Amino acid sequence: MSHKVTLVPGDGIGPEVVRATVAVLEATGAKFEWQEVEAGADFMLKHGTPLPDHVLNSARSTGVALKGPMTTPIGGGYTSPNVALRKGLELYACLRPVRSLPAVESRYSDVDLVVIRENTEGLYSGIEHLVHPGVVESLKVVTDHASLRVSRFAFEYAKARGRRKITAIHKANIMKMSDGLFLECSRQVARDYPEIEYDEMIVDATCMKLVMDPHQFDVLLMENLYGDILSDLCAGLVGGLGLVPGANIGDDCAVFEAVHGSAPDIAGKGLANPLALIRSSCLMLDHIGETEASEKVDRAIIQMLRAGEPRTPDMGGTARTMDIADAIIQRLG
Ligand code: NAI
Repeated sequence: MSHKVTLVPGDGIGPEVVRATVAVLEATGAKFEWQEVEAGADFMLKHGTPLPDHVLNSARSTGVALKGPMTTPIGGGYTSPNVALRKGLELYACLRPVRSLPAVESRYSDVDLVVIRENTEGLYSGIEHLVHPGVVESLKVVTDHASLRVSRFAFEYAKARGRRKITAIHKANIMKMSDGLFLECSRQVARDYPEIEYDEMIVDATCMKLVMDPHQFDVLLMENLYGDILSDLCAGLVGGLGLVPGANIGDDCAVFEAVHGSAPDIAGKGLANPLALIRSSCLMLDHIGETEASEKVDRAIIQMLRAGEPRTPDMGGTARTMDIADAIIQRLG
């Protein structure tokens, strides 16, 4: 069976890591019918929008997308196409498994935690306006609907994967109402899963504890902005942004993308590490039922890492993006 998948190369290092990932996927034996769609900064320059309707329409029709990062200008310019995509497709749960990999230099070994981030509301929505010159307001909207569905997702995920504990991360000591509602919803869902331990932790203390000893955590559940920040922090615990995969999941559609952004500092040089997106594509393979192909890619990655090379510069090597894809393909067996 051939899988219809929407392919969004994005911009910056996006097209480079997407090309490497597609090469690996094509070599697994699984069959794909790619619907490639343009979006992002370059599309914006040509057509005046970074996220044309055809991207959302394609993803709605295929139900699955593999996506490279898209740049969002800082302090002005157009609003984030990444946020618009997640909202437009109701991809309410962002899933980011953070695991130590063998023979990868990092601060810790044996880290195995999962960040689950509410993906559609909260302060990250960027709902802002000028109240008066010199005064701006940014709205943090939290609903029980969105908080309950992401909590339900987290507990169902934990149950299906045999995870033992969920920690809800918050700042409800200060944002008593908004984060308070998020916590109330998490507690309500937790009561339906007595077999899974549930606790809560304030976000600033969580950052310190993650850096001191990440092994105490299992599944971390949080609202959008905390999830954005903690995802990068967690990536730093296991070797960096070049390695950590992600998925945005809704009821009707799922978009698979790495945690990292468009990395303008290395874009166009063939130096980006494609492992984060290749590992995101393993999550995609699991999602579409190609578990054997997913395991094959995962095994090939581990073998390649154990061999010590090739490695891109972020991992201390000199290899190029496509060298990583080729080395994985050689080991698919
Ligand atoms: P970034 O994640 O693009 O880069 C941060 C640092 O990590 C840079 O030094 C970069 O070179 C490095 N890095 C990232 N991915 C790498 C990879 N695969 N291999 C090797 N090194 C890698 O974050 P930054 O610089 O804050 O954001 C750049 C742009 O990306 C911004 O416009 C931001 O809005 C956008 N962005 C998009 C995301 C998405 O499309 N989902 C997610 C995060 C940021």
